[in-house]
Amino acid sequence: MDMNLFKQELQQRKDYIDKHLLEYLTGADTHPTVIHQAMHYAVFNGGKRLRPMLVLEGAAIAGKKPEIAMLTACGMELIHCYSLVHDDLPAMDDDDFRRGKPTCHRVFGEANAILTGDALLTAAFELFAANAQVPGVGPEQVIKVIGEIAAAAGSQGMIGGQVMDLAAENEAIDLPTLQTLHSLKTGALFTAALRAGALLGDMDEEGLQALTSYARYFGLAFQITDDLLDINGDQKVLGKPVGSDARNHKSTYPSLLGVKQAELMACQSIERCVASLERFGSEAEFLRQLAYFTLERQS
Ligand code: IPE
Ligand code: IPE
Ligand code: MG
Ligand code: MG
Ligand code: MG
Repeated sequence: MDMNLFKQELQQRKDYIDKHLLEYLTGADTHPTVIHQAMHYAVFNGGKRLRPMLVLEGAAIAGKKPEIAMLTACGMELIHCYSLVHDDLPAMDDDDFRRGKPTCHRVFGEANAILTGDALLTAAFELFAANAQVPGVGPEQVIKVIGEIAAAAGSQGMIGGQVMDLAAENEAIDLPTLQTLHSLKTGALFTAALRAGALLGDMDEEGLQALTSYARYFGLAFQITDDLLDINGDQKVLGKPVGSDARNHKSTYPSLLGVKQAELMACQSIERCVASLERFGSEAEFLRQLAYFTLERQS
């Protein structure tokens, strides 16, 4: 794979998604302005937009135009952005930088940052519901997607993972527990994203199973590389502090297994991730490249 070409492809997809996010988000000068400014601040700051890309790709692999899932794709990014705003709060990871800028609470204060997260999460569901108005998308599919995303973001999904993450600070946990923690806090949203697009595109059950498997392994590898970048990364490229996990005594793959073994686990997970796509041909090429890219990413 030509990595530079793939990076250009990612940039194009990101720009396309950003254009729609700007269109869908309430204007920054809308009353009460402080919340809308903070929402824009938390969204338009150089995120990679991987979750919305997965939503669009799910629809594309199902043989539909990616645009049928654009509202849901943007909603997924709003949920992700909310999770980052809250993740950085003093009561959680207490981080000062995100996507190359001071964190939301450093600029708008803690109370506004909490409310910004709340507002982004609820705005996401407005976008999901609006997806039912798109020609060719039925209300039953939209209702199923909303149910799956809500479950993936909730107490048995991402929030459950975040709770486990905080509880595991200063604790020695075993590998299966760490794997569950990572699958929930990061894998659940990736899985919901890819499935959402595929469900909106009316993908058959076997296809859905294959994509679910891809996203689970992808999410695991993605969080392992996130943990590795917290040790080996360059803050300027990464856009967020390096060493945050060590400072917070987090349970991570490298802290439990060492860097070499964690790298190996990320590689194994990506191999399984790509193997999940066996039944697909060239239509899954983007997903294959994205998986390999994840192993080499620097941000
Ligand atoms: C960071 O996610 C948080 C994790 C779940 C590891 P990303 O690395 O996708 O963050 P952005 O959206 O590109 O900033
Ligand atoms: C966060 O994991 C996962 C979320 C659900 C936001 P991290 O705490 O490792 O994410 P970063 O490193 O701050 O982006
Ligand atoms: Mg965290
Ligand atoms: Mg964090
Ligand atoms: Mg991290």
